Amino acid sequence: MRRAWRRSRRKSNSDEGTYGMTLRDADHRHIWHPFTQHGSEPAPIVVDKARGASLFTPDGHELLDMISSWWTSIHGHAHPALNRALAEQAAAMEHVMFAGFTHPPAIALSERLAAILPGDLDRVFFSDDGSTAVEVAVKLAFQYWKNQGATRRTRFLAFEGAYHGDTLGAMAVGRGSGFYAPFDDLMFAVDLIAWPGTWDRDDEVEAREERALADLRDRLRRDGDSVAAIVVEPLVQGAGGMRMCRPGFLRAAVEMARAFGVLVIFDEVAVGFGRTGTMFACQQVGVVPDFICLSKGLTAGYLPMSVTVTTERIFEAFLDDGPRKMFTHGHSFTANPLACAVALKSLELFDEEASLDRVARIERAHRAQLDRLHASPGVARPRLTGSILAFDLRDDAGGYKSSGSERLRDYFLSRGLNIRPLGDAVYLMPPYCITDEQLSAAYAGIFQGLEDLR
Ligand SMILES: Cc1ncc(COP(=O)(O)O)c(C=O)c1O
Repeated sequence: MRRAWRRSRRKSNSDEGTYGMTLRDADHRHIWHPFTQHGSEPAPIVVDKARGASLFTPDGHELLDMISSWWTSIHGHAHPALNRALAEQAAAMEHVMFAGFTHPPAIALSERLAAILPGDLDRVFFSDDGSTAVEVAVKLAFQYWKNQGATRRTRFLAFEGAYHGDTLGAMAVGRGSGFYAPFDDLMFAVDLIAWPGTWDRDDEVEAREERALADLRDRLRRDGDSVAAIVVEPLVQGAGGMRMCRPGFLRAAVEMARAFGVLVIFDEVAVGFGRTGTMFACQQVGVVPDFICLSKGLTAGYLPMSVTVTTERIFEAFLDDGPRKMFTHGHSFTANPLACAVALKSLELFDEEASLDRVARIERAHRAQLDRLHASPGVARPRLTGSILAFDLRDDAGGYKSSGSERLRDYFLSRGLNIRPLGDAVYLMPPYCITDEQLSAAYAGIFQGLEDLR
């Protein structure tokens, strides 16, 4: 049973009478949290246990993790099989440097990824998180052209509203997200193309897609031979507000870019590993990109790791007798064996637990909410792709608003639901182990929250 609970906005929890207050005081004294305005945001929630789709506070309050802890926990928290894989690998070897050495979990994982990825995506470069997976792809694409002597190809194309992470290169190609104003002067220039986001019962999407494609065509005609790569979040722009597009649009955009020799980077950090209904979003788009970036679900939320997978053609452009053409990039924890062992087991779970069937079940449950969402006065643009259900908040005047989203977030928490709107976009992206009952609780919380917000 979930118990209602309350979160204090005060920095000291001394009046609160819940467990975890000493921890929260210590947290407040020493920790600088990510993407957090410490001057005004409420104190964070202490969580010390997690199982399946649920998070637990030290005093036993349960929160349904309806966004899979930043979209990472695809199979659910503390999965016994993943726990076992982690413990067994820890007993064998926790880490070894990855230049001049290799190890069985990385080799097995690379083989498995090459087998399940479409086309000739066979060459795996390991790194640490989603941002560095994109950073690696951007650097590889840039150096690929340098190594070929095509020194003019230095520009990048990306989409408005896209988020690709927060290292410098990832910020540059994700500058269309609008998150990085303080760093504007540090980022290289990127040409942005409109993203024709769409939703259920959207009858103007074709016109938006045509405009975006016409704009892309113009840019490519003008500067196509100076573009190194185009970077895409396929099917769903995540952090930009769960903005979804149609596969056919992306296919046309990629074909157009390729006609000008441009390399294609798919950032599937958020949507890889079943999120959109297929193992990888590129399979629905019908495109094999030159680079695919994977993280988050790769280790099922257990450990930070990512891969940038590319083709043998790209790899061969870095081969030489000396260091001149080599890719000088790598980190202390590259291809950490613990993370590789968990990732490998996570891929096995897709078969053992029929994870894609679970996603299909979640999608059916989401779809059954669409009529009611369309009928809700506070809701605009309801949309879904695979396990992701989203809509925008609309005020009574028909405008869109993000002011309600903070109140909604607190309301959801009070109902035992971890649902964090992104600006004015409310969304669900649950772990695949979520039950029908838990989904119903989340839908009920959303509809009640919309009602109360009014
Ligand atoms: C599409 C996409 N790319 C890259 C990133 C960055 O990943 P990370 O936060 O692991 O660095 C994110 C994070 O949300 C993402 O959604």
